[in-house]
Amino acid sequence: MVPGYSRLGFLARSAGWSRLPREALTGRTIAVTGSSGGLGEATVAGLVELGAAVEMLVRDRARGEAARDRVLAAHPDARITVAVCDLADLDDVRRYASDARDRLIALHGLVHNAGVLPEARTETAGGHELCLATHVLGPFLLTRELLPLLRAGSPPDRPGSPARVVFVSSGGMYTASLRTDDPEFREGKFSGGAAYARTKRMQVVLAELLADDLAGAGVAVHSMHPGWADTPGVAGSLPAFRRITGPLLRSVDQGADTAVWLQAAREPGQCSGVFWHDRVPRPTHYLPGGEEAPEARAGLWALCVDAVGPT
Ligand SMILES: NC(=O)c1ccc[n+]([C@@H]2O[C@H](COP(=O)([O-])OP(=O)(O)OC[C@H]3O[C@@H](n4cnc5c(N)ncnc54)[C@H](OP(=O)(O)O)[C@@H]3O)[C@@H](O)[C@H]2O)c1
Repeated sequence: MVPGYSRLGFLARSAGWSRLPREALTGRTIAVTGSSGGLGEATVAGLVELGAAVEMLVRDRARGEAARDRVLAAHPDARITVAVCDLADLDDVRRYASDARDRLIALHGLVHNAGVLPEARTETAGGHELCLATHVLGPFLLTRELLPLLRAGSPPDRPGSPARVVFVSSGGMYTASLRTDDPEFREGKFSGGAAYARTKRMQVVLAELLADDLAGAGVAVHSMHPGWADTPGVAGSLPAFRRITGPLLRSVDQGADTAVWLQAAREPGQCSGVFWHDRVPRPTHYLPGGEEAPEARAGLWALCVDAVGPT
């Protein structure tokens, strides 16, 4: 499993892939969170290359505009809007979504890419642990608030082309089971790695729950993991890992490939609630008996609904 996460795994698997048509996403508007660098920026580049118009959601406008300019340097005709949206701040998510509903006619895709791996337990202004807010609560709220736009991006006369919501999870989620007993990590000694893995597991389950919830709305919801890619986040949060894995790490384009493919390819438009890696559905558990109990799944849904409040 592990060598597959490296550049070698990508090179071996991608040898058999066919190229997506150059105009595959023409006429579609897709939002990407956390796109001021790393995999988010590479996802934006991959989407505009296929003709999409992109909403870059960033928490820092200057960093976002610098990333946009880098993408435009390679794709001068790209249609890109930079919008400030701090995923960890639920009020800011509501503010952004309201602005987007006023400005846009439809959204055909949403990529939940923003991610953090904090050293110490950090609380947002709203009182939530940072990983939980960034990876789970913010994306849940953003999906819900953008639903009118996503529904408009899923016309009933195009049943094979639903709007697509994609959670960028992590292979690290395999190390964690779904736990909702202490979601804010208030008990015990805090570990950034554990908070990250738990919330990345939550993203995979949340994608399945949203897939069921939105089946009638014609919106497909998937999760994926990018493998190990050399990004500013890995350099900053995992310097020892980066030193050891060095040349084996994927490029950002290789890491972003499946997130882009999930927006453009035919197969992910014909199913929902699937976990992908390198363009193939993958198991969400490798150990027998790891499946989440229905009560735990219901607990995650209740946690999200309680935290973000009524629609
Ligand atoms: N790289 C890998 O090997 C790897 C492996 C598995 C999973 N992933 C996942 O892939 C995603 C991208 O990772 P990366 O390696 O590209 O990380 P990165 O280089 O640290 O980039 C993370 C991006 O998220 C943004 N961000 C963080 N918190 C945010 C918030 N509250 N609101 C809006 N944007 C926010 C950051 O913005 P700033 O510029 O403002 O910091 C940055 O643009 C993450 O979800 C990560 O968990 C990555």
